[in-house]
Amino acid sequence: MVKYYSTMIKRISLQNYRNIESLSADFEPGVNIVIAPNGSGKTNLLESIYFLSYNKVFRTIEQVGQLVSHNSELARVEAELDNQSISEKLVTKEGKISALLNKKAVVPSRLGDKIPVLLFAPASVNLVDGDATVRRDDLDTFLSKIDGDYRLTLIEYKKIIKQRNAQIKLIKDGESDYSGMGFWDGKLIDLSHKLYQHRINYIQTLNDTSKEVELERYTPVTIIYKEHVDVSGSSDKFSEYMRVLEEKIATGRHKELGAGKSLYGAHRDEISIFMNEMDLRYLGSRGQQRVGAFIYKLTQYSLLKKVKDESPVFLIDDLMSELDTKNREICGRIIVKNVEQSILTSAEETEIDSETKSVSKFVRIIRD
Ligand SMILES: Nc1ncnc2c1ncn2[C@@H]1O[C@H](COP(=O)(O)OP(=O)(O)O)[C@@H](O)[C@H]1O
Ligand SMILES: [Mg+2]
Repeated sequence: MVKYYSTMIKRISLQNYRNIESLSADFEPGVNIVIAPNGSGKTNLLESIYFLSYNKVFRTIEQVGQLVSHNSELARVEAELDNQSISEKLVTKEGKISALLNKKAVVPSRLGDKIPVLLFAPASVNLVDGDATVRRDDLDTFLSKIDGDYRLTLIEYKKIIKQRNAQIKLIKDGESDYSGMGFWDGKLIDLSHKLYQHRINYIQTLNDTSKEVELERYTPVTIIYKEHVDVSGSSDKFSEYMRVLEEKIATGRHKELGAGKSLYGAHRDEISIFMNEMDLRYLGSRGQQRVGAFIYKLTQYSLLKKVKDESPVFLIDDLMSELDTKNREICGRIIVKNVEQSILTSAEETEIDSETKSVSKFVRIIRD
C-alpha cells in the first residue's frame, strides 16, 4: 500500500451535541471501533466529525441548529489532529456556525481542508437503490470537496437555474416575454458544459482508481455517465453536448413553459454504478447492494487520497449489521488494507470479525 501523508484524528471532544452532553474520545491510526447500544450516540459522534469537515448535516434535511442538545443553547465539536492542530466548531440553536483553528477564528469552510473526511452510512445504500438525485448529489458533494472550481461553478449554476425557472414562470403567467431569456440560456449552456467536463474527468479518474483498490474477492465498480441529451452524433462529445443542449433549449420552449422549469442542462444528467457488468440498482440482495455502495465509497476514498495527496478519515457507520459472516470478514480486511484511519461503529461486538478486531482499537464513548 502506498503511504500518503495522513490526517489522523487523535481526539474528538463534544459538548451539548445532540444526546451527548459531554464526551471525549481518543483515536489511533488504523481501524477504530466504536461499539455501543442503539440510540447511544454512535451516529451522532460520526456526524459531528462530518459536520466539522463539511459544515452540513448528513442524515436528514434538518437545520444545523438541531445539532444542539434539546436543553442547551450551544453545541461544540473539537478535533485534535496528530499534527497538533485543533479544529473547533460551535453552533447555536439559531443555526449560527463559528469556527476556530488553533483557537483563532476562521471561516467555517477552512476546517474542511484541515480534516478531510469521507462517510459511509446506512443511507449510502440509496446510492444504489435510490433515484438519480441521490447519486447526482453525492457526485456534486464529492467533486465540490476535491475541486474548488467545480464548487463555485455548481453554486453559480444552481443560482442560474433558480433565476431561469423564475423567468419561465413569469412568462407562463403572462407577466414577461422571451426577450430576456437568451441571457439565461447562454449562462445555463456555458455552466452545464463546464460541469460536464469536470464530471467526465472525475469518472475517468474514478474508474481508473477503482482498479487499484485492494478488494479481495470483490470486483471493482465502474461508473457510467448518462447524459440527458444524445451526444452520440459526434466523436467530440464535449462540443456535441453544447450543440445539442442549445438545440434542445431552442426547440423545447413550450415544454419548459408547460413544466414551469428548466428541463435541459447538467442538473438532468445521471450516473449509474456498475459491478460485474451489472447496474448495481438491479443487483440481488440488500447485503450485496450495501457492499456495492461501500466499494463505491471506498473508491471515492482512494481517489480523494490520490487527488489530495493525503488520506482522509473514513467514517463507517453501521456497515456490518446487514452482512453475513463471510462478507463481514472481507469488508473488515479491505478496510484494514486500504484505509489509513477509519472510525467504524457497530451495535454489537459480534458483528466485527476476529481478524479485524485483533488489529483495531476499541473506542469507548466515555462521558465525562
Ligand atoms: N438535538 C438533540 N438533543 C438531544 N438528543 C438528540 C438530539 N438529536 C438527536 N438526539 C437523540 O440522539 C439519539 C440517537 O443517537 P444516534 O447517534 O443515532 O444513536 P446510535 O447511532 O448509537 O444508534 C436519539 O435518542 C435521539 O433522540
Ligand atoms: Mg446509528
